[in-house]
Amino acid sequence: MQNSIWLIGHGGHANSIVSVLQGLGHEPGSLSFISPNRHEAVQGDLLEETVLGVSALANVGMHVICAFVGSDLGFRKQRVLDYERSGYKVIGFVSRTARIASNSNIDPSCQIFDGCHVGPNSILGMHTVVNTSAVIEHDCIVGDFSHVSVGVILLGGVSVGREVMIGAGTTILPGVKVGDRAVIGAGSVVTKDVAAATKVFGSPAKSHFSSELP
Ligand SMILES: CC(C)(COP(=O)(O)OP(=O)(O)OC[C@H]1O[C@@H](n2cnc3c(N)ncnc32)[C@H](O)[C@@H]1OP(=O)(O)O)[C@@H](O)C(=O)NCCC(=O)NCCS
Repeated sequence: MQNSIWLIGHGGHANSIVSVLQGLGHEPGSLSFISPNRHEAVQGDLLEETVLGVSALANVGMHVICAFVGSDLGFRKQRVLDYERSGYKVIGFVSRTARIASNSNIDPSCQIFDGCHVGPNSILGMHTVVNTSAVIEHDCIVGDFSHVSVGVILLGGVSVGREVMIGAGTTILPGVKVGDRAVIGAGSVVTKDVAAATKVFGSPAKSHFSSELP
């Protein structure tokens, strides 16, 4: 048990993680799920139960991976901090098929999925998720707990704050700055800076909502 990895959560993101970990040579038997049934629909109280289960687990110090994402990245952050406070090591991974420039700076807690590219001088903060086939070009910064979804392209010099959700297939043009906790809708082309805690989408991306995010 001591050498196994526990995945917190279930569903599509967990299955994708299993696939990446198997590509890295982990045997299926070395991966365990804290949720009782990873194929169940994700429900808030089930995730809540998962978190409450932390204190009941043996082997403090063991490795866990948070296998859930969503537009509420504050939720994921809170859970990661809960696990760390409880003595577990929340780890990340880099897919064997990702291409990472040698002078980039990637926190070991990052989740880097299959087919991603991280260019030179780019920095990825703690617990960032870079999902399948995303491209982070040179000189970019992505803040802690942000999620770069499937197929996103960050062109050179883009700066993304903390807990930012970038929807699938979005392109962010060179040098654009995205503030903390912003949400960018799938398929957007972001041409201008995005203020903190705002939700934008479209091409060019704009805010379509009257109030700021909480
Ligand atoms: C932008 C987003 C966060 C908005 O979510 P929401 O606040 O729940 O918005 P709604 O679904 O109520 O949509 C509101 C309106 O915006 C439109 N809309 C929503 N997202 C859009 C998008 N990405 N591009 C264009 N239009 C969009 C909807 O069609 C709807 O239009 P209508 O009022 O004319 O019917 C969400 O749609 C999104 O794109 N999330 C990203 C999902 C994703 O990529 N996940 C990552 C998987 S790896």
